[in-house]
Amino acid sequence: MTVSRSTNDRASEQKQENWIFPPGRWGVSDAPPRFSVRPYSESMNNAMRIVAMEGFGGTDVLRMAEVEPPKPGAGELLIQVAAAGLNRADILQRQGHYPPPPGASEVLGMEVSGTVAERGPGADERWQIGDAVCALVPGGGYAEFCVAHSGCCLPVPTGVTLEQAAALPEAAMTVWANLFATDARNTPRLFAGERFLMQGGTSGIGVMAIQAARARGAHVAATAGSEEKCRFLRELGCERAWNYREQDWAAAAAEWAAGSGAVDVILDMVAGDYFAKHVELLGVGGRLIHFATAHGAEVQLDLRNVMRKRLTVTGSTLRSRPVEEKRRLRDAVEAELWPLIAQGKVRVVVDRALPMAQAGEAQRRMESSAHIGKILLRMA
Ligand SMILES: NC(=O)c1ccc[n+]([C@@H]2O[C@H](COP(=O)([O-])OP(=O)(O)OC[C@H]3O[C@@H](n4cnc5c(N)ncnc54)[C@H](OP(=O)(O)O)[C@@H]3O)[C@@H](O)[C@H]2O)c1
Repeated sequence: MTVSRSTNDRASEQKQENWIFPPGRWGVSDAPPRFSVRPYSESMNNAMRIVAMEGFGGTDVLRMAEVEPPKPGAGELLIQVAAAGLNRADILQRQGHYPPPPGASEVLGMEVSGTVAERGPGADERWQIGDAVCALVPGGGYAEFCVAHSGCCLPVPTGVTLEQAAALPEAAMTVWANLFATDARNTPRLFAGERFLMQGGTSGIGVMAIQAARARGAHVAATAGSEEKCRFLRELGCERAWNYREQDWAAAAAEWAAGSGAVDVILDMVAGDYFAKHVELLGVGGRLIHFATAHGAEVQLDLRNVMRKRLTVTGSTLRSRPVEEKRRLRDAVEAELWPLIAQGKVRVVVDRALPMAQAGEAQRRMESSAHIGKILLRMA
């Protein structure tokens, strides 16, 4: 069967949009973000370098530029950025599919590490000028200075370098929110002794989820797209790792779990055709948690399976949550996950760190999915 070019284009665009839910408010034809950008020159004062976007599209729209540094508002800190973590959402934002929330910087970048350079009015007293921090930000990370709400900042964990700390906020908070945050009845979603399946194990989120789940006593298995990645996942603590391109991962997972009944919890970024397999794989009381939908957000569900096995099907997003919710997540992550990092039970997995001028190369590596763990941009 021949597939027309336009069908391919539409399919590829849909595939990209599927990585995030909900789809962005921008269409590809909407106006691109505007910065008051001056051409980059070493000699300018009161200016910072950013990775700017000249319209939407491929990595060729990324440019080095200079702009005035932002000012910290109420409750905020200005951070001199050491490094920024890359996220798949940055690529979608570059393509015009994922706008920052209202009021956030239009500059790419959702997590940073660095030192506090300035305090805004009413910023939390615990953070003082010169403190080393890492922070979850709604935008603005691909820059030499970035504003963060003081409630979304974390100390750099013991044993982690300032640069490595940029790999932590997004993955730590996403994993905590989806697996360990407790509900009104003080119940998390994953308990010690349970069987946990992570789809996309070598993703930034995956390497954090696998290690945290292991450290908290769960049995862990994961999928990845190559044998090399699967070897890495076994070294990271997975009892099993399956190459989803070559193996029937669902059959292998059923066999893995058969000894103790079934899989208890699945953390998934794929959805689409995986959904029915997940519902089948989960045992009584199983929990299916979504944080992205690479294979499609619309699925069919036979509710009889949900009733028969008393399943929970859920998911979450992070970027658009109110600051107070992020602060609560920050507090839990700092109290529970940071000690595991300090004890060496959870390590920071950095694929590579590139200078900010190579942001395009860094994003192309993420698009190729060749990476294992987090890709960082270095601002110095
Ligand atoms: N909801 C939230 O709160 C939230 C927060 C953060 C991130 N996210 C989303 O989560 C997703 C992952 O983010 P990330 O930054 O961790 O990206 P990432 O590091 O690029 O991870 C994506 C990984 O998915 C794997 N993958 C692709 N197709 C797969 C499949 N069919 N089965 C299993 N694995 C597959 C790829 O590796 P292989 O080589 O193995 O294919 C790739 O490494 C993104 O869509 C991001 O937008 C959501």
